[in-house]
Amino acid sequence: MCGIVGYTGHRPAGPIVIEGLRRLEYRGYDSAGVALFDERGELYIARATGKLDALVQRVEGTLPPAVCGIGHTRWATHGEPNDANAHPQLDPLGRVAIVHNGIIENYDVLRKEVAERGGLFSSETDTEVVAHLLAEHVARGIDLLEALRLVVAGAQGAYSLVAVSVDEPGRIVAARVGNAGGIVIGHGDGEHLVASDLGALLPHTRRVSFLEPGEFVDVRRDAVAYLDAEGQPLEKAVEEQPFDAVATAKGGYKHFMLKEVHEQPVTVLDAMRGRYLLHPARVEMDGLPFTVEQVRALTRVVIVGMGTSMHAAMVGRHYIERFARIPAEVDNSAEFRYRYPVLDEHTLVISISQAGETVDTLAAMDEAKRAGCPQVTICNTPGAQTTRVADGTVFMRSGPEVAVASTKTMSASMLLLHGIALHLGRMRGTLDPEVEARQVTAALHLPVAIGEALEMAPHLQRIAGRYAQCEDFLFLGRGLGYPMALEGALKLKEVSYIHAEGYAAGEMKHGPIALIDESMPTVALAPRDEVFDKMRSNIQQVRARHGAVIAVVSKDEHALDDLANDLIELPAVDAALVPLVAVVPMQLLSYYIALVRGADVDQPRNLAKTVTVE
Ligand code: F6R
Repeated sequence: MCGIVGYTGHRPAGPIVIEGLRRLEYRGYDSAGVALFDERGELYIARATGKLDALVQRVEGTLPPAVCGIGHTRWATHGEPNDANAHPQLDPLGRVAIVHNGIIENYDVLRKEVAERGGLFSSETDTEVVAHLLAEHVARGIDLLEALRLVVAGAQGAYSLVAVSVDEPGRIVAARVGNAGGIVIGHGDGEHLVASDLGALLPHTRRVSFLEPGEFVDVRRDAVAYLDAEGQPLEKAVEEQPFDAVATAKGGYKHFMLKEVHEQPVTVLDAMRGRYLLHPARVEMDGLPFTVEQVRALTRVVIVGMGTSMHAAMVGRHYIERFARIPAEVDNSAEFRYRYPVLDEHTLVISISQAGETVDTLAAMDEAKRAGCPQVTICNTPGAQTTRVADGTVFMRSGPEVAVASTKTMSASMLLLHGIALHLGRMRGTLDPEVEARQVTAALHLPVAIGEALEMAPHLQRIAGRYAQCEDFLFLGRGLGYPMALEGALKLKEVSYIHAEGYAAGEMKHGPIALIDESMPTVALAPRDEVFDKMRSNIQQVRARHGAVIAVVSKDEHALDDLANDLIELPAVDAALVPLVAVVPMQLLSYYIALVRGADVDQPRNLAKTVTVE
């Protein structure tokens, strides 16, 4: 989704802003632009459709020696991706420039009002009207920040805005409204930065502060001032961030996705560190600020998330019911809030969001908050909005995930849900200590087992080569294999643009079986478990209809040798932990198929890493 960078200080602003935008590319975008003050204090504007390189080409040799500027990568919502709709957007006289993330819901009403006053628009965006309104206020002598406050008061929706004005080169003002997209301020020496996320700031400073919804900031070279919605000054702590910008480099891998898939043994280890303990073997999760009484009084757990995070939630449901013995359900965050959920203070809501800014998940959390539910969130991003809403946060500690397709953070989420379930089970007295000890020991073996799964990469690459030209795939699984089937299909769609359907295998004969023929391969998740025989029947049914089957089986499983066209053998792990090894071939198969097809693996078309619009 849209990315924002701003800089004011003593160094050349143009390269800093463009380099910052480069770091936000992973969010997904379709045009980019910058607004810089040249040496006379006039605004230099450049915008280009397509990737950042198009903008870089456009500005080549013309970048002014500016010390203040703002930049934007746009993910189109209102108006197609083209130069006119790219940000920064200006007022007609070019006195105010703004960049924007999120949606201004009543933009059409505001636009009509401005048009009636004679305002002429040059884009189809919901953003441009803000530039008009700001400029109108500034022309009346109203201070730029106060003008922004007045505009925000009348502009509905969830969004963030960053503005500059030719009347005050060197000053950047910004607002965060609602949950769509954060604003981070970077504090340097004699310079300050503004960005939609931390990654853009880290090469320059690790000292940051975050805007909360409803807050404003006034950023100058030597000072930063924060205001609340009423325009009252706010004190804000400056936090020191632990992430190192260099950690975001590809580290010798061809793509971030491949690097992040290979990081999973360490991801899982980092997620367990200090939480999975050996003497005695038990789990002590941090981030669960609930008393024994509160936990014992729980009658239900609802786990919410979107996309891959929701698939992790489905594995978590199994863990909560099995180990904590609490009825658990999973909901897509975007559906949850609109189905009048029945919630109370005995319903624990667990949200999962890698970014911690996913607007649908934030909305679901708001709903839960209104109902008085205790809440815990699983998140990878310190300071993210979800971590401020929940009562407690269990951090993934996965480090930055740069590829748009989530991989390592799904493994972290599944592992943490396993830990939360064991912890809650012990607090409720429903978990046999021996079961807990066995699960802990089994989980501590995971880094090795995931490493073994990664060793299958060459085998998976060969399989990918055989099926890469297929245009449709079916993924089937039962029990814990079902979320893996959904995730396998999602990954394949995302990175290779192949149409793929994930189904609970029992559902196959209720419709999807009609699709099966020799051109549609099926990936069948069939580890040796209580539903193995049923999976074998499903595979037989596919083969009877000439469909090719890639079967994902347990180590040394031979029951499908004559049936499946290709076999993927999973390393041996405890049955409850199979998803943590089975997800690896799902990820690698998609990756290698995408590679054969020449797709943009790290930044698939139309997708965004941080989804800040509903
Ligand atoms: C899939 C993917 C998305 C995210 C979803 C939620 O590879 O990355 O489906 O899982 O957008 O994102 P978070 O977890 O950041 O809330």
